[in-house]
Amino acid sequence: MGTSPDSIDNLLHESRRFSPPPEFVENAVATAELYERAAADRLGFWAEQARELHWHTPFSDDRVLDWSNPPFARWFDDGEINVAYNCLDRHVEAGRGDRVALHWEGEPGDSRSLTYAELTAEVKKAANLLAGLGVGQGDRVAIYLPLIPEAVIAMLAVARLGAVHSVVFGGFSAESLRARIDDADAKLVITADGGYRKGKVSPLKPAVDAALALPDADGATGTHTVERVLVVKRGENEIDWTPGRDLWWHEEIATVDAEHIAQAFPAESPLFILYTSGTTGKPKGILHTSGGYLTQAAYTHRTLFDLHPETDVYWSTADVGWITGHSYVVYGPLANGATEVIYEGTPESPHPGRWWEIVEKYKVTILYAAPTAIRTFMKLGRQIPQRFDLSSLRLLGSVGEPINPEAWVWYRDVIGDGITPIVDTWWQTETGAIMISALPGVTILKPGSAQVPVPGISVDVVDEQGVSVGADQGGLLVVTEPWPSMARGIWGDPDRFIDTYWSRFGPTVYFAGDGARRDKDGDIWLLGRVDDVMNVSGHRLSTAEIESSLVANPMVAEAAVVGASDETTGQAVVAFVIIKQSHLEAASAEDAIPQLRKHVADQIGPIARPRDIYLVTELPKTRSGKIMRRLLRDVAEGREVGDTTTLADTTVMQVIATTVR
Ligand code: WT7
Repeated sequence: MGTSPDSIDNLLHESRRFSPPPEFVENAVATAELYERAAADRLGFWAEQARELHWHTPFSDDRVLDWSNPPFARWFDDGEINVAYNCLDRHVEAGRGDRVALHWEGEPGDSRSLTYAELTAEVKKAANLLAGLGVGQGDRVAIYLPLIPEAVIAMLAVARLGAVHSVVFGGFSAESLRARIDDADAKLVITADGGYRKGKVSPLKPAVDAALALPDADGATGTHTVERVLVVKRGENEIDWTPGRDLWWHEEIATVDAEHIAQAFPAESPLFILYTSGTTGKPKGILHTSGGYLTQAAYTHRTLFDLHPETDVYWSTADVGWITGHSYVVYGPLANGATEVIYEGTPESPHPGRWWEIVEKYKVTILYAAPTAIRTFMKLGRQIPQRFDLSSLRLLGSVGEPINPEAWVWYRDVIGDGITPIVDTWWQTETGAIMISALPGVTILKPGSAQVPVPGISVDVVDEQGVSVGADQGGLLVVTEPWPSMARGIWGDPDRFIDTYWSRFGPTVYFAGDGARRDKDGDIWLLGRVDDVMNVSGHRLSTAEIESSLVANPMVAEAAVVGASDETTGQAVVAFVIIKQSHLEAASAEDAIPQLRKHVADQIGPIARPRDIYLVTELPKTRSGKIMRRLLRDVAEGREVGDTTTLADTTVMQVIATTVR
């Protein structure tokens, strides 16, 4: 994983190939012909995919794409749609109301299944409840929930009203939650008392209380935009209550009207904002809109997961706090009328076979998971999954980071009984839906390579000048044509959107931030991020965000953070910290390490907690003062330190290397 030279070398020598089983090919949703159709008439192809959805007002053939103001695309823009109607009512009206939409499994083993009819009824009530609290078209609602049915219900209820959700992962801190609430001016927060994580209740409502009590950027308290906090009862943990502001979900929902007619909204209406880490400290609010987003989420889910909605049981293990949870837990599967499993907890609770027990219990046929989880299971050993009946599985998916060939082969052999195809899907929060993947039943698979752009998508691997590189050359991944589920911007910051993604190679070429290589067959191998973004267990973290958190601690004078390769998590957070002289006089430096690890976890969230903190006296900087993280990564990964000639002081790295060893 990552960009270490070893891993590139391994990838180049990977020669195993896997053809799909003949029965799979025979019944496959995807066919090779999709590539031809998309190539012959790209916009016509996307229009055809869009027409699989229900449009309250159909879009015109000449309004499929408006790219007159790049990078701000408009897709299907004279059409009108209701995203929630497409995920719910449409199936019920077509006589599929009795099909199970969600099999929810709580971490402690409680469970609940909802049919499409039941889920539709719940969302209608929730929409009435939210409307009664003043939520209307365009309003922002923050959702801070565990993975319980109400998370899906809340997202769909917001969408149904033409409002905009901002889901904040329950593992994020009060500070992170508040920053997201403020950036989007959310008027409502939907949370729970708590949810189950690793065998115990992890509180959520207390973090909302803390978030709303924090001072704003000018130091004032009570200035936030939140009018109400709606609380789902889940953890049964003790919580404080602010009368007039806080409301129990179950009490309010009991008294609302059950009928709700979905209204039509313009195709380009904002659907959600999802924050992701960038190269600077401030998270970016990635904005997605309705018609194009749903089109690509549904199309990719149907074709890349070979969905047969009458018989398949699909399970994506992602939380709704991430983009995978938006596109491949909520919108894609439900738009396609799939039956899916959602699981509240962690893979190892209460025992390390928990995931496989769930696969056996619900006879899961399609599993979509992250390489970090696969590598963890590999370490624990095959005897754990082998205790369960996994014979229902017929297709496996991978997402979030490059999957190393060994993990890929283990996944197929041990989980997929040596026969299931694997789709390694490359995409990003910004792309909204999958962009590069094999087509199951069509593509001959190569472990470790995400392979080919999906039909309708155009990508390239280019050098620093934007020129396509030759076979087996490394370069930067770009997307060369607009796509329906592309981000429409960064909330409140159009300039940053342009600067980050659309300025490096011109205004119509999307710079993804990933290194890539295209082999002689034209297959793409992802080589990790080329910017200061880390990928820890498939989650994006910004080096700058963790550095500013460290520097905010009174003990710290300076800090530099790098992502170092890690066998299990892909990359791990490693920090190099200079402690202030004043602190060193008062206390021992070593005591600072656990305190600083906790500080970062409290400020950003446990996923950002550094694996290692090294106390140093200087940081390697160029003459212009830029920290050379590349050199620190060499140290953190135990490698020979690379070229130091551009350092202002070339002896710094020797000092650091001896401190660390
Ligand atoms: C970054 C996007 C896409 C949902 C989860 C992460 C890396 C993602 C793959 C893959 C190699 C991958 C990239 C990308 N990434 N999938 N199959 N192979 N790398 O979404 O948090 O927006 O992160 O994840 O580096 O840029 P995200």
